[in-house]
Amino acid sequence: MLKSTLIKATEAGARVMQSFFQGSFTISNKEGINNLVTEADHASEKAIFEVIKADFPDHYILSEEAGEIIMDSNVKWIIDPIDGTVNFAHGIPLCCVSIAVELDGEMAMGAVYNPFINEFYFAQKGFGASLNDKSIQVSRETSVGKSCLVTGFPYTYLDHPNGPLEVFTRLIRQGVPVRRLGSAAMDLCWVAAGRFDGFYEHKLQAWDSAAGYLIVEEAGGKVTDFKGHPYSPYQPQIVATNGKIHEELLGWINNER
Ligand code: IPD
Ligand code: CA
Ligand code: CA
Repeated sequence: MLKSTLIKATEAGARVMQSFFQGSFTISNKEGINNLVTEADHASEKAIFEVIKADFPDHYILSEEAGEIIMDSNVKWIIDPIDGTVNFAHGIPLCCVSIAVELDGEMAMGAVYNPFINEFYFAQKGFGASLNDKSIQVSRETSVGKSCLVTGFPYTYLDHPNGPLEVFTRLIRQGVPVRRLGSAAMDLCWVAAGRFDGFYEHKLQAWDSAAGYLIVEEAGGKVTDFKGHPYSPYQPQIVATNGKIHEELLGWINNER
């Protein structure tokens, strides 16, 4: 039942995204420059909540726009109603719904759906990861020098020592291609699918990464913080790779090479 509710909720949010996409909708600003929220983010969140609450009215919810709905439950839904809102607001089809289910404090399932390119990613702890129901695996690349990486930039905090701009410059100066898609959930799924060899970002929130990190792990990848500790979505830093370039990429990020 959890899995079918997760899929229904993800699809409901994605339908709302499609109904607003490239049309007219209100856009407002949150903290930072160009940290946008649109009418569609709120409408997607509402549609997702309706599905979850119909099946599980007592579950805990953590969602980007509404915040926390605290319940005495061992199940927590972690929701980003649109990841890649700036892309969405500009009619760029690199955006998605991301929903994770945490069970007794452990990530149990994750779903990420980009309806514009028809990619539905799903993972269940211990059961692998899939794209449109076909099993996916991370890449086999063994060196950062030959990798294609992806990162994201937060709306604030850019010039911090060893911050996003410094690390980006360091890698780019080595000639390593580092892409920037504008959706952390898509970034993670594309690592899981073997398109990127690694992803790192300095400042994410739980709803950006909760589903995607499980999808990477279940596709055979490795996800940690910048120190190489096991990943928790409740702290800001993330490094997600195919596993083979992980230690080397940590060295580049921490300027220890
Ligand atoms: C953002 C995206 C972006 C990342 C930002 C996030 P939003 O989420 O995931 O890739 O760099 O840090 O805030 O605001 O589009 O849901
Ligand atoms: Ca997000
Ligand atoms: Ca969002």
